[in-house]
Amino acid sequence: MPARRTATFSESVIREMTRVAHQYGAINLAQGFPDFPMPEPMKEAACAAIHGDVNQYAITWGSPSLRLAIAEKYRRWYDMPVDSEQEVTVTCGATEAMAATFLALVDPGDEVIVFEPFYENYGPDTILAEARPVFVPLEPPDWRLDAGRLRAAFSDRTKAIVLNTPHNPTGRVFTREEISLVAELCLTHDAWAITDEIYEHIRYAGNHHPIATWPGMRERTVTISGLSKTFSCTGWRLGYAVAPARETTAIRKVHDFLTVGAPAPLQAAGAVGMAFDAEYYNHLALEYRERRDLLCGALAEAGFTFSIPEGAYYVLADYSAMSDSDDAAFSRWLASEVGIATVPGSSFYHDRTAPRRVVRFAFCKRRETLELAAERLAEVRAKA
Ligand SMILES: Cc1ncc(COP(=O)(O)O)c(C=O)c1O
Repeated sequence: MPARRTATFSESVIREMTRVAHQYGAINLAQGFPDFPMPEPMKEAACAAIHGDVNQYAITWGSPSLRLAIAEKYRRWYDMPVDSEQEVTVTCGATEAMAATFLALVDPGDEVIVFEPFYENYGPDTILAEARPVFVPLEPPDWRLDAGRLRAAFSDRTKAIVLNTPHNPTGRVFTREEISLVAELCLTHDAWAITDEIYEHIRYAGNHHPIATWPGMRERTVTISGLSKTFSCTGWRLGYAVAPARETTAIRKVHDFLTVGAPAPLQAAGAVGMAFDAEYYNHLALEYRERRDLLCGALAEAGFTFSIPEGAYYVLADYSAMSDSDDAAFSRWLASEVGIATVPGSSFYHDRTAPRRVVRFAFCKRRETLELAAERLAEVRAKA
C-alpha cells in the first residue's frame, strides 16, 4: 500500500489536461507553458556551458554566478538588498522552492493561509508538510482581497500565508493596499509570508510589489520566483527562494536532500537571462498583452464571462450561459468536440465537489495558435 499521505491529494489536474489535449489532438490552453522559443542568448549560453564541460553538480544551493545575478536583479528592480552567499537558494523550479520552504519552515499542525482559488501545488505542499490549510476566498468578479475574512483567518496558530501575485488563476495583481494588509497581519501575528512571484514580469496593470520590501517583512518573508515564465523555459526547471540567512540554511538542507541541485549548465545560462535589461521585460509584457486581448476577445464573442486579467497568462471564464454541465465534463467536451483543452475551475478549490461553471484558459501561445483557438471558440455555442 502506498503511504497514507499520498491518498489525500490527487495527481495534477493541469498536467492531466495536457494528456487529454494529446488524446484529442486539442489545442493545449490548459497547462501554462509557451509554444514559442525562449531567448536566443540564453540558449547559446546553455550550449556553450555544456560544450565548456559545465556538466557536473553545481554547488547544491546554486552556482555563484546565478545567485549573484539573482541578488543583483533584486537590487536593481526592487531596491532590495540580497546577500547571494547567505540568502539565495536555487532550486528545480519555483515548485521545488515552495515545497522545500514548506518543509523547512512549517511544523506539523501549523496553520497556513492560502487564498482560494489557488494554484494547485499549494494544497499538496501543505499536506506534505502536515500543516493545516486555512482558505480565504477571493470572490468574482473582481477577486479582491476581503480584509474582514483575511483578518479572521489569522490566529496564533498561523505560521505562514502564501501570497501569489500576479495570481494564478484569477489574473489579479494585488495592490499596494492589499499587500500592506497582508504585511500588517503577518507582523501582528508573527507569521511568515511565503510568496510566489513567478509572474512578476507578466503584467498589464499595476506594479509588482514584493512584500519583502515592506518595513519589517524582509525578516519574515521567503520570496519565491523562477525563470520558467519570464524566460519561456518551463522545462529548464530553474527557480529560487530568497530568505533570511537562518531560514535559508534550513531551506538549503531540505533542497539538498530532495534534488541536490538544479541543472548546472542551465544555471550558467540562467545568469545571462537574469541580467537582461528593462527592454526585455517591457517587450515580454507587451507581447503578452496582445495575446491576452486576442483570447479575451474570442472568449467574450463565444459567450464566456470573465474579468480581464491584470497579470499572469490565464483567464478564468464562466461558461454557464452555454452549458449546465459540471466543469470536468465541460472541459472534456471542449477538448473532444471543440478541440481546446482547458483546466476545470474546481482544481483551484479545496472542495472539488462544489458546483462550479468555470474553466481556465492559458494564453501563453503564439498568435497563430490563439487565432486557431478563436476560430474553434466561435463554434462553441452552436455545438453546445
Ligand atoms: C503560480 C505558479 N507558481 C509556480 C509555477 C511553477 O513554476 P516552476 O516552473 O518554476 O516550477 C506555476 C506554473 O504554472 C504557477 O502558475
